[in-house]
Amino acid sequence: MTVTAVVGAQWGDEGKGRIIDYLAQSADLVIRFQGGDNAGHTVINEYGKHALHLIPSGIFNPATQNIIGSGCVVNPQALLEEMASLQAAGVALDNLWLSSRAQMVMPYHRTLDALEEQARGKDTIGTTKRGIGPAYADKAARSGLRIGDLLQPDWLEARLDNALRTVNRKIEILGGQAVNGEELYALLLDYRAQFQARIIDTVPMTRAAIEADKAVLLEGQLGVMRDLDWGIYPYVTSSNPTAAFAPSGAGLPARTVDRVIGVVKAYSTAVGDGPFPAELHDADGDRLRDIGQEYGATTGRPRRCGWFDGVAIRYAAWLNGMTGLAVTKLDVLDQLEELKICVGYELPDGAIIVDSMPDTPVLNQVKPVYETWPGWLQSTAGCRHWAELPRAAQAYMERIRDLAGVPIAYVSVGPERAQMFEV
Ligand code: GDP
Ligand code: IMO
Ligand code: MG
Repeated sequence: MTVTAVVGAQWGDEGKGRIIDYLAQSADLVIRFQGGDNAGHTVINEYGKHALHLIPSGIFNPATQNIIGSGCVVNPQALLEEMASLQAAGVALDNLWLSSRAQMVMPYHRTLDALEEQARGKDTIGTTKRGIGPAYADKAARSGLRIGDLLQPDWLEARLDNALRTVNRKIEILGGQAVNGEELYALLLDYRAQFQARIIDTVPMTRAAIEADKAVLLEGQLGVMRDLDWGIYPYVTSSNPTAAFAPSGAGLPARTVDRVIGVVKAYSTAVGDGPFPAELHDADGDRLRDIGQEYGATTGRPRRCGWFDGVAIRYAAWLNGMTGLAVTKLDVLDQLEELKICVGYELPDGAIIVDSMPDTPVLNQVKPVYETWPGWLQSTAGCRHWAELPRAAQAYMERIRDLAGVPIAYVSVGPERAQMFEV
């Protein structure tokens, strides 16, 4: 069997959740390898519609073990709420595990996220305000608390004391309310009681899976353009959603990853601030938002919409070492007479680039170079094979494939589990 990393190939919300849900029908283990409850991975299946924030999207298959990996930041409160919502829908959670090495998002991280955004004035990042940036900052500063700390009350208390010494100063400087350590410690002891049985050292489980040649999926959160190193810094998240980080955040040797599936919407969307060259500010953009129901799964914010960006996919494909593309939301384009694909960026000096991604200050100034493609003006929602797709839809995706230089492995023509097929 195989280890497959499933990663976002654009600005996020490409449909990673639904791809994992589909692939998890035959997976033994799914590991979320980075991010926190900033994710909104929408899954629609026999259990209804769920926006998963922390829990891996393989949770609906009782035969699949699901790990929130060590590369993640976990808000225990958000996790409890998500677990309750899944349980209410009849999803058994006996197959959910937390890496003892994952970091905790504390209530003060959310406070700091909001205060820091406020302090940025007009230069906001547009974060989800879930405390993700401050939690990863504390991880790097070595003042974070880890999920496994819950199992060692004395150590936990000492770590909390240590963290609060600087946290409370920061909060006060930014004009917020200092945190009461005793109340927070009591809350953490409550989390200890609720999570104890699910906290594990993941290595024995992942090692056994690899040694027994099981099918493993590594679930990314967000897209390459929001990667901390390779995205549109500083308008990025505070971890690495690219495939190179997947084995590290999941706790596997790098050489075990055999397949990298890049999930890509048939057009582009982004939530949050920062450059987005193929963005539309006209009626076509509004149409994509309306038909595609482009509103954030976590924050409800309207998503910025644009044409497909061939420069970004070329960059994403190379950087991730993609072996296949999963093209989602093809059906959203069914009613458009004409489509555009961005095939180059024109730099301020008139040069046109295709093979690289300029850094943020330059990217802010590029002009997209478009090709026009005919629409197909018929429904694709019922298609279940490549051969059933209208010729114009095939041609449009073949252009995407050629720009990426990666074959199309899956196509999705609707949000339901059955509305996806292998190519
Ligand atoms: P993720 O964060 O990458 O998992 O993506 P999101 O769940 O945030 O956003 C994808 C949205 O598109 C969700 O509302 C999905 O239900 C929906 N979706 C996924 N695939 C398709 C598709 O092929 N067609 C349509 N119409 N909707 C889709
Ligand atoms: P999924 O997993 C889309 C964006 C935010 C902001 C930037 C940093 O559903 O693809 P953060 O809260 O991470 O510090 O915000 O990243 N962002 C997302 N955009 N989908 C997401 O998750 C996102 N998670 C964060 O809007 O621009
Ligand atoms: Mg999402």
